[in-house]
Amino acid sequence: MKFFIDTANLDQIREAHDLGILDGVTTNPSLMAKEGITGAEAVLKHYVDICNIVDGDVSAEVISTDFKGMVEEGEKLAALHENIVVKVPMIKDGIKAIAHFTNQGIRTNCTLVFSPGQAILAAKAGATYLSPFIGRLDDINWDGMELIKQIAEIYAVQGYETQILAASVRNPLHIVKAAQFGADVVTCPLNAILGLLNHPLTDIGLAQFLADHAKANK
Ligand code: E4P
Repeated sequence: MKFFIDTANLDQIREAHDLGILDGVTTNPSLMAKEGITGAEAVLKHYVDICNIVDGDVSAEVISTDFKGMVEEGEKLAALHENIVVKVPMIKDGIKAIAHFTNQGIRTNCTLVFSPGQAILAAKAGATYLSPFIGRLDDINWDGMELIKQIAEIYAVQGYETQILAASVRNPLHIVKAAQFGADVVTCPLNAILGLLNHPLTDIGLAQFLADHAKANK
């Protein structure tokens, strides 16, 4: 399973990259706004800055919601860098745009996916990545992980090549379960990635090893 970081914060992207386990980055308009990146030129420059840190796919989301606008924006984003993947919302014109981009050889990430039916449509349109939002489903008392399981089963049975990119990850357990249930990629905040490191027995064991070493080498 590939690891993407879900942020537009350059320091956090560098920190995850320095761990040596980062395969890519996802952003969305809310994450860009959180970093104070506003205005068309600044947004485009920020995507290039991210591509210069990480040697992997970087999802850049369109703002338009009509076919023509999405195509114009997507082509501009894709031209920024070979690693840019155009992120398109799961709406009717979005599916049309994904099919268009697929024919043009432009890679896409279909976002805001909450059902297996939506996942089938995106795969039929040729999306490179599909982003089911685990955390937002859990937030409303639906089972986000069950969706990953269902989509993984459907894609395997049908032989769809679209990669399942588990998104809206809130914690380390989401990452573990996404791996268990067949996600190809998981995109997560830095704290969820770092949370995978933690186990009290690791801390206790390391403290004991160091204490024993110090005692024996006095
Ligand atoms: C990433 O592609 C999604 O936009 C992101 O994971 C959404 O996460 P959130 O539900 O925490 O906003």
